[in-house]
Amino acid sequence: MSVAAAADRLRSAHRLCVLTGSGISAESGIPTFRGAQTGLWENFNPHQLATPEAFERDPRLVWRWYEWRRELIAGAQPNAGHHALVEIARRIPAMMLVTQNVDGLHQRAGSHGVIEFHGNIMRDRCTREGIAAERSPANKEELPRCARCGALLRPDVVWFGEAIAPDALQGADAAAANCDVFMSVGTSSQVYPAAGLSEIARQRGAAIIEVNVEASDMSAGSDWQLLGPAGEVLPALASAL
Ligand code: OAD
Repeated sequence: MSVAAAADRLRSAHRLCVLTGSGISAESGIPTFRGAQTGLWENFNPHQLATPEAFERDPRLVWRWYEWRRELIAGAQPNAGHHALVEIARRIPAMMLVTQNVDGLHQRAGSHGVIEFHGNIMRDRCTREGIAAERSPANKEELPRCARCGALLRPDVVWFGEAIAPDALQGADAAAANCDVFMSVGTSSQVYPAAGLSEIARQRGAAIIEVNVEASDMSAGSDWQLLGPAGEVLPALASAL
């Protein structure tokens, strides 16, 4: 389906809600969740690492995976897709950006008010206090510990089986319920509750645009399916506005 037709609808949008997934960061060199793992980690499935049970069983292994991902992300740059969303936000009266990504690349591209649905990988959280925490400088070789209370730290992300932070959930639900156009970018739409946001929007009468390199679980409910890499489709959409 053509970018021009979707741009026509977008041009008259009053409130746009955009949901992004790991596909938008693929062109920045960050592997998607359900794509193949790379190098060191190709024998591990993210489902075996991103869980509270995995952390309880082997916190060192889980921390090694997160440290590897942090390094990858620290060395990555936002791509044309992230930048195009900043441009699109300038041209629509109101846009809310909800991301399942924990990489912070939208903010580094200049997006404001981003709802981080699954947290942020660069932050540490205290396992005892449940809030963002600084690392104790004492034990460099050991697992990271909280500077305040000494408890083990974990990455400040949502793991499988865990609840979404209430403010992120409420903000995203409201953005989906109140938009007149909903755009999903680079997500397989397999993980709930994020995958349910397009349905909330659709039931409230919003038009649905999907940007993905292939069909996904939400394609059947989309009004416009734009097949192609986000780093090409989103800039084309932005310049057609
Ligand atoms: P997935 O790996 O499930 O899906 C990535 C999607 O991006 C797929 O549909 C790809 O076809 C698409 N894709 C790949 N490259 C693309 C490109 N260049 N342009 C556009 N689309 C592209 O990742 P997510 O849907 O983000 O949650 O996964 C959702 C959640 O599952 C993640 O946030 C994570 C994971 O478990 C938690 O960790 C809680």
